[in-house]
Amino acid sequence: MTGSLDLPSGVMLRHAERADAVRIRRLIHQVGINPLALDWRRFILAVDAGGQVLACAQIKPHADGTRELASLAVVPQFRGLGLARALIVTLQTQAGPPLYLTCRSGLEPLYTRFGFRPLTDPELPLYFRRLRKIANLILSVLRSPDGLSIMRWDG
Ligand SMILES: CC(C)(COP(=O)(O)OP(=O)(O)OC[C@H]1O[C@@H](n2cnc3c(N)ncnc32)[C@H](O)[C@@H]1OP(=O)(O)O)[C@@H](O)C(=O)NCCC(=O)NCCS
Repeated sequence: MTGSLDLPSGVMLRHAERADAVRIRRLIHQVGINPLALDWRRFILAVDAGGQVLACAQIKPHADGTRELASLAVVPQFRGLGLARALIVTLQTQAGPPLYLTCRSGLEPLYTRFGFRPLTDPELPLYFRRLRKIANLILSVLRSPDGLSIMRWDG
């Protein structure tokens, strides 16, 4: 799967296997992002020569037919090496457009590099319209300075 991607020496990308489910959960908990809907069958991983999982991401399908790039996580010591880039570009190539994602608004610049653009409320499909309503409610209760961004890549 790694192909022509510019990865650090010894690192490769592969589809997750059943035995990776616990490693995926551990990494998601470690980086503190949404721990729900982590079905290993949808994940790709970056692993080192010893098989250690360094990064993961998935494409999550929703009932309204949309698909979401989600659960992007890189082990802190391996950030800044292009692992997120490799996972995002690979999933874009494999899944094709359109892809949605949600992130805290501070992370928009990361995803605009890959052609995602933030969506306004009227542009949102059902699943993400509902999600934004709930998320904004929670964020206002928590007085969070960061909003929830919903972005789409159209190819
Ligand atoms: C965000 C995260 C996935 C980035 O992983 P990474 O492997 O360090 O990213 P990469 O090295 O592949 O960087 C890819 C590009 O994005 C840029 N980038 C990385 N983190 C960024 C950030 N926080 N904000 C803006 N741009 C960022 C890099 O500069 C790089 O750009 P370039 O290729 O044009 O030089 C990682 O920091 C992480 O796991 N964070 C915690 C979990 C998280 O927030 N996940 C996202 C949930 S929406």
